[in-house]
Amino acid sequence: MPDPYAGLSTAMRHRLDGLLARMTLEEKAGQLSLFAPADAASVNPTGPSLGEAAQLEEIRAGRVTGLFNNHGLEGKRRAQETAVNESRLGIPLLFAADVIHGFHTIFPVPLAEAASWDPSLAERTARAAAQEATADGFRWTFAPMVDIARDARWGRGIEGSGEDVLLGCRFAQARVRGFQGPRLDAPDAMLATPKHFAAYGAAEGGLDYNTVDISERTLREVYLPPFRAAFDAGAMSVMTAFNEIAGVPSNANPALLDGLLRREWGFGGLVVSDYTADEELVAHGIAADARDATRLAFLAGSDMSMQSGLYLRHLPGLVRAGEVPMARLDEAVRRVLATKARLGLFDHPFRGLGRPGTADAPRPPDAATLRALAREAARRSVVLLKNEGELLPLARDGRRLALIGPFIDSEFDVLGPWSLFPRPAQGIGLADGLREVAGAGTSLRLVRGSGVDAPLPGGLDEAVQAARDADVVLLALGENNAMSGEARSRTEIGLPRAQQALAEAVAATGKPLVVLLRNGRALALEGAVRDARAILVTWFLGHEAGPAVAELLFGVASPSGRLPVSFPQRPGQVPYYYAHKRTGRPQPPEQPEAFYKARYLDSTHAPLYPFGHGLGYAPVRYVSLALSSGARLSWDGSLTLTTQLRNEGAREVEEVVQLYIAPRRASVTRPVRELKDFQRVRLGPGQVVEVQFSLRRADLQWLGPTLQPQAEPGRFDAWVAPSATTGLSTSFELLPPGH
Ligand code: BGC
Repeated sequence: MPDPYAGLSTAMRHRLDGLLARMTLEEKAGQLSLFAPADAASVNPTGPSLGEAAQLEEIRAGRVTGLFNNHGLEGKRRAQETAVNESRLGIPLLFAADVIHGFHTIFPVPLAEAASWDPSLAERTARAAAQEATADGFRWTFAPMVDIARDARWGRGIEGSGEDVLLGCRFAQARVRGFQGPRLDAPDAMLATPKHFAAYGAAEGGLDYNTVDISERTLREVYLPPFRAAFDAGAMSVMTAFNEIAGVPSNANPALLDGLLRREWGFGGLVVSDYTADEELVAHGIAADARDATRLAFLAGSDMSMQSGLYLRHLPGLVRAGEVPMARLDEAVRRVLATKARLGLFDHPFRGLGRPGTADAPRPPDAATLRALAREAARRSVVLLKNEGELLPLARDGRRLALIGPFIDSEFDVLGPWSLFPRPAQGIGLADGLREVAGAGTSLRLVRGSGVDAPLPGGLDEAVQAARDADVVLLALGENNAMSGEARSRTEIGLPRAQQALAEAVAATGKPLVVLLRNGRALALEGAVRDARAILVTWFLGHEAGPAVAELLFGVASPSGRLPVSFPQRPGQVPYYYAHKRTGRPQPPEQPEAFYKARYLDSTHAPLYPFGHGLGYAPVRYVSLALSSGARLSWDGSLTLTTQLRNEGAREVEEVVQLYIAPRRASVTRPVRELKDFQRVRLGPGQVVEVQFSLRRADLQWLGPTLQPQAEPGRFDAWVAPSATTGLSTSFELLPPGH
């Protein structure tokens, strides 16, 4: 078992062991019990169970380890004063929150930010969020969500980094670094919690909380690597998942928690259950009752119980009855105490809680700096899918614009589903953003035309009239805040009917259409939306959504995002992801209609817009691709791929150059392509730049037939590409050892 006190001084180890020696069984169980406070932000199905006075009594009795999603600073301070000054052992509380995409300042949802393909941007926004949240007394975030999501029906894809393993790993690491900062005991450091361990994103049918039944290969190759990456970056806590995998709910899975996580990976940090996930073992049908659920969850390796209160109620009795060894209980308590010590809570319990004279109070950046970062992040998260005839950017030359659709203003809906503490309460919507950026000469007419999922009386007529009177129509369509996120899976991943009808009616005017999609998942686009001349994916961009989109529309900035999820042709293709297997009957690209091939009768199995796709305001040509060392990679050597790109337009662009590989033959089947690296480069008008990638054997490994990582000599295809289905290709040989 990994040392629970890893990284702590000898003095601190003694101090913690001294505390442990003095704790009663009830106090030990209390250190493993986390609760929502009376004023919790309401995001969970069952609310706080106690009023403040009763909860303070519990804290005084040493029955609470921490609280999460509190609203007020005063409440936190009162709770901490009670714990430190009035409980028998004075162990400080730990305050946690779902700081997912910003705290007061709301940044783009994580999926959107992944579309920046710029992990350093996510690191900066996570850092800023941690600075704001620690100034409000929170030291623990339930983020990043690192679940790979390949089924667009699943609502929680919005909280992660999309479908790809490498992109997921890079963003997981960046966010952990951002939240935690260089030192966990710094006043503005937040403990990161990669979640939900494990494979929560693989829910059958994309239905939230549903059964997961995947092979150990898929688990290890697709769903686990982002967790491993997050731990490698220093994450010291992890949250279990609600789902089962192959018959065993994660929260009661000893092979996963005690085996893989602790013994195989050597993870010494804290395992917290998801919200009431231990209690839910009864509903799963593997625990007879709450006591049984406690035993199963605890012995599997789940250290801390969130909100159910089960550990508090049943662990002492289970230990007394000899069903849970005291040594196991002590081990879990050590991990909790060590976590608090790592954060410096024993020495500075009131830091960030606004008590006058508290040393080193965290100080967030000023409001202007935070809003500038929010705008930058929003701008860089937008993906331009299509821009026929260079309709965009729009000139600021007195054109008449009509902004039509349910999202013309909707300031709340720009924020996204995990905005628990936004200040101000609303973001800047499209209309205000356009007014700010368009300049006085542009006339802007606003027509809602339709509700989000129901028509508006007279809406179509008004919209059609506005379109007729306009030079260009901006159609603001998509999902509202309540359509993506937890418990928000959808069977339909297209636009609601009323919005599609609006798009068809407006398109019939023949006016040039720019579709501005608001979405928390890949959508299946059809009809007038799919055929619009320009389409921008604008996700949920946070406080600065409106101005960021406007800056892109008018060319103040150029779009540079790339899809972190494939957009399918048809809803029935999901789960769709680019790194699929070949099958024994792949569809030949040159014969899209070939029969008895892996295609649907009514659709090819290609995406409408592939993973990695996104345009700027100038075309970039991939001119050449060359390999070093005679296209041979020796066993311990490296191989360089050099590509030349040319900006063939008149504006500066940022290109995300992507490297994919696939072996021609392997001992197990491999995806048609796998992303191995990417680089972001800036090209001025007409500029040619050279980009180099380097590959080593370690980049070419997979799990062999016995699930051990191995490299296999042989020929590989490689693509340097602007997306997962295009690009320049070449091939090289991985030589066996000794050649
Ligand atoms: C979610 C977690 C979240 C927790 C606390 C659960 O329902 O699955 O991701 O951290 O609630 O709000």
